[in-house]
Amino acid sequence: MRAALSERFGETFPIDATLPGLDGLAKIAGHRSHRRYAPRAIEPELLRLLCACALSAPSKSDLQQADIVMVSDMAIRKAIVATIPDMPWIMDAPVFLVFTANGARLPALCEMHGKPFPNDHLDQFFNAAVDAGIVLATFIGAAEAIGLGCCPISAIRDQPQIVSDALKLPQRVIPVAGLCVGWPAQAGEITPRLSLDTTLIENSYGARNLAGEINGYDRRRATLRPYRRQRNVERWGEAPLYGWSEDKARQYAEPTRTDFGAFVRRKGFRLD
Ligand SMILES: Cc1cc2nc3c(=O)[nH]c(=O)nc-3n(C[C@H](O)[C@H](O)[C@H](O)COP(=O)(O)O)c2cc1C
Repeated sequence: MRAALSERFGETFPIDATLPGLDGLAKIAGHRSHRRYAPRAIEPELLRLLCACALSAPSKSDLQQADIVMVSDMAIRKAIVATIPDMPWIMDAPVFLVFTANGARLPALCEMHGKPFPNDHLDQFFNAAVDAGIVLATFIGAAEAIGLGCCPISAIRDQPQIVSDALKLPQRVIPVAGLCVGWPAQAGEITPRLSLDTTLIENSYGARNLAGEINGYDRRRATLRPYRRQRNVERWGEAPLYGWSEDKARQYAEPTRTDFGAFVRRKGFRLD
């Protein structure tokens, strides 16, 4: 775990070897996304158990506004994958799930009990989406605890209407992320993260040297996990030092999912 965290954050963490649950912490610290899977099925009972663990996650006000869709029908999976041409791992994964934010149940409860629902605003959407993210993360933790590997897929939101139609998502239910799940075919690698000096804040955000911190991270990451190819060289040329920040700046210099808000509104959420 010490090695994993030091590779991840560029810092050595003292670890008390008598701490209970160190194995669990080591699994969390050693997280990596997996996109290559062994040709080995996941038993339906095991998948159901993992879903139960994931749905045991905390939920805002106990509202329980996240669902998991198990996409076992290959025709449906193909319809979703057809919207994402460059991620073959989605078709290869033994299991593909979609985590949804379900904002339909709560107003239905109010209607069932003859109550008004004066909370149809951004917070309602946000609560459901956050719950779905927590359930997703909890599923990944559960899967990794038993040696499975996962890869979340936000690309299912590239063409959300097609995904919504394929899964017959009711009004006020939207896809948050897909998840490939399988037995890893290879060990995979740790992705270094921004230093805790950047992302761990004590009490309040003070003056920051963002450019210096990012530069340090770019350099640390370039020595450990250099990018194999540069994004959109036609537009931006070859950069001499191609780090994480250059890659993310190039990625988000292109418009992405600009119609997602319109889709969410069409699905019945109000985002005011
Ligand atoms: C919400 C979410 C959506 C993601 N979407 C995709 C995706 O569409 N395709 C993909 O290959 N990886 C996707 N990922 C995986 C990230 O690329 C990966 O977590 C990141 O590069 C860090 O690598 P690591 O998970 O191995 O630490 C997603 C991760 C999250 C949390």
